[in-house]
Amino acid sequence: MGENNRVIDVKEIHKTYDLGEIKVHALKGVSLEINNGDFVSIMGASGSGKSTFMNIIGCLDKPTSGEYYLDNNQVSSLDTDELAEIRNKKIGFVFQSFNLLARTTAIENVELPMIYNNTDSKKRAELANQAIKMVGLDGREHHLPSQLSGGQQQRVAIARAIVNNPSIILADEPTGNLDSQTSLGIMEIFKALNKRGKTIIMITHEQDIAKHAERIITFKDGYVIEDKARG
Ligand SMILES: Nc1ncnc2c1ncn2[C@@H]1O[C@H](COP(=O)(O)OP(=O)(O)O)[C@@H](O)[C@H]1O
Ligand SMILES: [Mg+2]
Repeated sequence: MGENNRVIDVKEIHKTYDLGEIKVHALKGVSLEINNGDFVSIMGASGSGKSTFMNIIGCLDKPTSGEYYLDNNQVSSLDTDELAEIRNKKIGFVFQSFNLLARTTAIENVELPMIYNNTDSKKRAELANQAIKMVGLDGREHHLPSQLSGGQQQRVAIARAIVNNPSIILADEPTGNLDSQTSLGIMEIFKALNKRGKTIIMITHEQDIAKHAERIITFKDGYVIEDKARG
């Protein structure tokens, strides 16, 4: 495995939130490498720095110090617009609370990222339908989020995350609002996407969910305290 297989490489990342009087040192020197096609879980107690780490590797936020290489390109020094461009191309996000637009149908939610990048409407419909199928929601295209179960809403969010064909999927507690049976269905989708070559990085505090990944990284108090392949 050469350098080219490394999709994420962070070196000595620190993140300090400056709240005036108070400074929160959320990451205290995190170094990690993640290879293309990996399926990784990130575990750790609440407040250990997991979401802060995900926001940085997802180009939603910048580290206070340290280096971040995404596909061998140094991104820690890019400005906000450059980060947004890279993010839209390479990364799909899935969140605990689904983050769907409420008055917008499933298929329209999935089309949104393609509206931002000016894909024409025919292509949009075609790609959105493919993504909807991939997550097993055909027949539900025209439902509003309120007409879907939690698991179905998360499937819409996953379809939206993959519709621009990103190489990396970042999921922050994707099953945090779902029961265990529904969560299993979501894990099956992530595994299928991983089989198709997507790199999956999933935050969870549930051992049962984390074990679906091939590698489990544990954060504590802003440090990585454990990093191991699934036994
Ligand atoms: N935007 C923010 N401003 C100030 N402090 C923050 C912010 N986001 C997170 N923190 C703090 O940083 C630490 C790590 O938080 P976070 O990365 O959200 O942890 P986790 O996702 O593991 O629960 C916590 O102490 C949290 O309160
Ligand atoms: Mg979090």
